[in-house]
Amino acid sequence: MPLIAILAGDGIGPEVTAEARRVLDTLGLDLGYEEGLVGGAAYKAVGHPLPPETLDLARRADAVLFGAVGDPDCDALERQFRPEQAILGLRKELGLFANLRPAKLFAGLEDASALRPEIAREIDMVIIRELTGDVYFGAKGFRTTADGLREGHDEMRYDEREIARIARVGFETARTRKGKLLSVDKANVLETSQLWRDVVIEVSADYPDVALSHMYVDNAAMQMVRNPGQFDVIVTGNLFGDILSDEASMCAGSIGMLPSAALDGTGRGMYEPIHGSAPDIAGQGKANPCAAILSAAMMLRHSLDLPDAADRIEAAVAEAILGGARTPDLGGTLSTRAMGDAVLAHLG
Ligand code: NAD
Ligand code: IPM
Ligand code: MN
Repeated sequence: MPLIAILAGDGIGPEVTAEARRVLDTLGLDLGYEEGLVGGAAYKAVGHPLPPETLDLARRADAVLFGAVGDPDCDALERQFRPEQAILGLRKELGLFANLRPAKLFAGLEDASALRPEIAREIDMVIIRELTGDVYFGAKGFRTTADGLREGHDEMRYDEREIARIARVGFETARTRKGKLLSVDKANVLETSQLWRDVVIEVSADYPDVALSHMYVDNAAMQMVRNPGQFDVIVTGNLFGDILSDEASMCAGSIGMLPSAALDGTGRGMYEPIHGSAPDIAGQGKANPCAAILSAAMMLRHSLDLPDAADRIEAAVAEAILGGARTPDLGGTLSTRAMGDAVLAHLG
């Protein structure tokens, strides 16, 4: 029986993960679950955001269902003890280099988008974000200069192997969709981006059937709100992908709607909403659980070879939304639990 590690984490993490779990339970699948401590909750309980037992659980599991981490109480801690280090550590330790972040507008959510309905309606893209490199994992430093100034630095780096493997994920994904791939970089300024562009072009020789194009990230951010319907599959680095996916989420209605899959290329993965622990609404039953529920669907599809069950979940979310189910982020009044109920009601 496949083992799912449930790492609910902080803030709204446990609230939204509970709804994803209810949806999974309702499907009656033959899955085992084991819960682990992560993030600020783990730090407060055992003194570390990613305890060895949790890392071990994640390694043993066939997939990880992750909620969110982040706790304002922990923001002043030494960096290695901050909740966010848990998610970065899991990505690195498990080799989860490929982050799929699908953003599409669910019918009925036109009015929730920050964009005009006729523009929002066209949104259906996948952002493929490299997840274990870039400025996130380069050398970091802080010092006081000879002039007495505080100085911080974070090295941005990629090697060609890291770029080529995520590029391949981009081309393979493009093949399953419209046969076009957009690579987003900042090659006009950054050496890492020039290498990125060169390597993506080299890899494209293996995918003559895919139309490759390039865009600078500043333009991409602008195009995302001007005409997001032009995007289908985007491949980009860790930092640019982080930022563009939050932007895409609001174009598609809410950050509470976007799921993600972090994959190692062998079928193992960690699945989580793209949003954080939302301390401003935590504990109030206001969080939208759809991103977490849709992440569970991605888990069934990508790690557990249960595409039909994944389809059922996605259809149930779509029908609930179409039927008017709305948490406050979508302009409605439903609680997290009531939104979960609305999805369950459409699972049949
Ligand atoms: P956030 O995503 O937690 O929240 C941003 C805004 O979106 C908030 O106003 C929040 O209320 C809202 N929001 C987020 N998810 C929502 C949902 N499901 N339903 C309704 N509204 C939702 O980002 P932040 O405020 O910048 O960060 C808060 C904490 O979360 C920080 O500690 C940060 O480091 C952490 N964080 C963690 C993850 C993760 O675990 N994957 C991702 C992003 C941020
Ligand atoms: C995300 C988050 C994380 C990231 C943080 C919490 C480390 O913003 O998953 O999008 O920047 O990758
Ligand atoms: Mn983010």
